[in-house]
Amino acid sequence: MRTIRTVAELRAALAEPRRGGKTIGLVPTMGSLHDGHLALIRAARDAADHVVVSLFVNPAQFNDSADLAAYPRDEHRDAGLAHEAGADLLFAPSTDEIYPPGFTTQVRVAGPLTETLEGAHRGADHFHGVTTVVTKLLNMVGPDVALFGQKDAQQALVIQRLAADLDLPARIEVVPTVREPDGLALSSRNVRLDPQDRRRALALSAALRAAESELREHGTTDAEALSAAARAAMTPFDVEPEYLALVDPEDLRPVGSVDQDTLLAVAAHVGPVRLIDNTILTPNGGAER
Ligand code: PAJ
Repeated sequence: MRTIRTVAELRAALAEPRRGGKTIGLVPTMGSLHDGHLALIRAARDAADHVVVSLFVNPAQFNDSADLAAYPRDEHRDAGLAHEAGADLLFAPSTDEIYPPGFTTQVRVAGPLTETLEGAHRGADHFHGVTTVVTKLLNMVGPDVALFGQKDAQQALVIQRLAADLDLPARIEVVPTVREPDGLALSSRNVRLDPQDRRRALALSAALRAAESELREHGTTDAEALSAAARAAMTPFDVEPEYLALVDPEDLRPVGSVDQDTLLAVAAHVGPVRLIDNTILTPNGGAER
């Protein structure tokens, strides 16, 4: 696996597989790779002949400079893991390569998709930073398929909207959330949890599981009752949700009742980190992760 720093080298490296008729898969990441990222890389292996992993901690999507400064970085380790998972190329550009002097363009998805949930709490600029860098990465790599995680359900939705609205030719695939055995969704930020906060972090997945079993076992479909069950499950962990919402999984509008597949999304601060998680609640036939 080669590591590449510039767009010019990237295009040169992809010219040959492209000439040979090979399909290209892109997995955008901010590094600090864990099994969630590796599941995306393996899915890319299945979906395409040639796999590019990008590693770029995108300053434009951080609303909190302390979070950006504390973001874990270990390119050497990431390169080893990406290689083992089947990546052919690691694209790890500098900030200047992505945002050269004079850079002024922003790509925005407008409306509730970027203004609700994460957008309401981190600011819609977070998503504008994501869509700008993802548009650039898609233009740089020109993949047939790009893969994103269900862990960041709203981000995946925003990127699907972006690709559809701008006629971006890449197919967008969404890969299920990878969890620790005890239910915690893998996140690069989990390494910043001390042992006590690591236990408290289970509040998020416990909330999701509580709503799922309330729906499955008692047939409760009322959104407020399901939300109450989810919130109650967080209390023993001494964690308050920043938001906990039942919304339509396509347009993120709040629902009153789970009559169709519904996205239950939660965010909470646990010690020094902000964590998010979600599940799809499915009426009749229980819930799935
Ligand atoms: P990052 O947080 O590094 O995540 C990269 C990809 O891995 C995203 O698509 C994310 O949804 C996915 N992912 C993270 N944790 C996961 C888990 N536990 N299970 C499955 N997939 C998981 O998301 C970003 O970077 C950035 O916003 C990016 C898209 C790279 C743009 O800068």
